[in-house]
Amino acid sequence: MAYETILVETRGKVGIITLNRPQALNALNTTVMAEVVAALQGYEANDAVGAIVITGSEKAFAAGADIKEMQSKTYAEVFAGDLFAEWDGLLRIRKPVIAAVAGYALGGGCELAMMCDFIIAGENAKFGQPEITLGVMPGMGGSQRLTRFVGKSKAMDMCLTGRMMDAAEAERSGLVSRVVPVADLLSEAIGAAEKIANLSMPAVMMNKEAVNRAYETTLAEGLRFERRLFHSMFALDDQKEGMSAFVEKRKANFTNR
Ligand code: CAA
Repeated sequence: MAYETILVETRGKVGIITLNRPQALNALNTTVMAEVVAALQGYEANDAVGAIVITGSEKAFAAGADIKEMQSKTYAEVFAGDLFAEWDGLLRIRKPVIAAVAGYALGGGCELAMMCDFIIAGENAKFGQPEITLGVMPGMGGSQRLTRFVGKSKAMDMCLTGRMMDAAEAERSGLVSRVVPVADLLSEAIGAAEKIANLSMPAVMMNKEAVNRAYETTLAEGLRFERRLFHSMFALDDQKEGMSAFVEKRKANFTNR
C-alpha cells in the first residue's frame, strides 16, 4: 500500500514505520494519524512480523500535532470529530511497538512515543509538552502518561513551562529505556525488535498485556491477573520448548503455539 506521509519497510521479522514529513518536522496531521494506524494494523495482521519500530528523522521524531491544520478549527469540529481519538488504534496493537526517537519529540510527538511500549532515544532527543505556549494543553495523553512515567513534579514542570527534557534527563526520569548515539539508534531499535520477534509470540503478547495492566488496575488485581496469565502459559508448546531447551542446554525453537 502506498502512503503519503510515512515510509514502511520490513526487515527480517521487524516492521519499520518512518514518519516522513520533513518539511514540517514530521508534524502529525490527520493523514499521518490514519496512515500510522493503518500500517500498524497491517503489521499486526502479518504473521511474518513479530515487532514494530516507529521512528522519524535525525532532526525530529515528530514536532507535535500539526498546528497549521488545527489552528482554525472550532470547538464543534474537534468535539464532533473527536480529534486524536483515532490514535487509540495504536493501543489495540498487541505486538510490541518500539519508538526510536532522535531529535524533537514534542507535544503529540512525545505523546506518540509514550503510546509505544518503550522508547529508545538518540543522544540528541528532546522531549516536551509545549502546548501551554500555544494556549492549549496536551491532547494525545501527555498530561496522563507523562505523569505516570516521570511523576507529578516533572510532569507539571514540563506541561506548565513547556520546557524540553534532553535524552539524559529522560533516561534518568524513566521516560526512555535506553539512550544510544544517534548513528546507532535505528540499529539498536531494530535489534531489540528482532530479539523480541524471535521469542514466543504468545508469551511476548502476554508480557505486554500484563505490564500495561499495571497502569489500569490495583496492585492486588494486577498480581492476580499476572499469576493467572502465568498459569495459562503452561498450556503453550512454547513453555515446554523454552524450559526444555534451557534444561537441555540448547537454543529454544519457538513455534508460537
Ligand atoms: N505543526 C505544524 N508545522 C510545524 C510544527 C507543528 N507542530 N512544528 C514545526 N513545523 C513546521 C514549521 O512551521 C516550519 O515550517 P515552515 O518552513 O513552512 O515555516 C518547519 O516545520 C520547520 O520548523 P521551524 O522552522 O520552526 O524549525 P526550527 O528548527 O527553527 O524549530 C521546533 C524546531 C523548536 C521544533 C519548532 O518547530 C517548534 O517549536 N515546533 C512546534 C512544537 C509544538 O508546539 N508542538 C506542539 C504542537 S500541539 C500538540 O501536539 C497537541 C497535542 O497534544 C496532540
